[in-house]
Amino acid sequence: MRLIFLGPPGAGKGTQAHRVAEGLGIPHISTGDMLRANIASGTALGREAATRMNAGELVPDALVISMLAERITAADAAAGFILDGFPRNLAQALALETSSVGTIDRVVLFIVDEDEIVRRIDGRRGCNQGHTYHLDDHPPSQPGVCDVDGEPLVQRPDDSEVVIRNRLKVYRRETEPLIDFYDERGLILEIKALGPVQHITRQILDAVRA
Ligand code: AP5
Repeated sequence: MRLIFLGPPGAGKGTQAHRVAEGLGIPHISTGDMLRANIASGTALGREAATRMNAGELVPDALVISMLAERITAADAAAGFILDGFPRNLAQALALETSSVGTIDRVVLFIVDEDEIVRRIDGRRGCNQGHTYHLDDHPPSQPGVCDVDGEPLVQRPDDSEVVIRNRLKVYRRETEPLIDFYDERGLILEIKALGPVQHITRQILDAVRA
């Protein structure tokens, strides 16, 4: 099954993509995580992406599209995948549509209001390995330390309030038009992404399997 998770920053796409991917036995492919891994290992791509990401702007299409093209054609993605954070504008959606990966089955659209988005992002903390917590809703057992690997928990550089506001602006301008793009193709599946994480996972799994 080939799925796209679409929605504003902080809507819970990464949280759910991880759980749904496990449920379906397919990889969770997050362009944000891939770019952060490049920054952490100091690659040329990471150096080019960092300034844009820290300002809440999109990384240039050419870089993201070639990074994604390589990942999506890996053997573990042959039976399907969840794309989280890609496509993010019309150029990326067209590149995906004209690629050889096959047709997309569903686009899961996360519906969350803006106050809740800011609350979620403000409380988000994570470790270098990508394990994510929320200070109020999903705190680690020991403050500031990851339950899984014992690494320190930090705030993402693009999670400050000023940058969050810009990410939301960029989302509305660049990414929101994709709702119509995929609606015209009959692929949109709306999910009200409020309430307990496990309930949202169940809703998504039931809907994509129906
Ligand atoms: P990316 O990493 O994709 O960030 P994003 O889309 O802004 O999304 P987030 O990771 O902020 O949120 P999420 O929806 O995954 O929410 P999460 O599950 O973490 O991209 C970062 C940057 O990389 C971009 O700004 C851009 O610069 C660049 N980039 C990436 N892809 C690109 C592309 N294709 N083209 C160009 N540039 C690209 O949840 C958020 C918080 O809420 C967590 O604390 C979580 O614990 C909590 N939470 C989750 N669910 C619930 C719930 N049900 N109830 C309460 N709390 C919850």
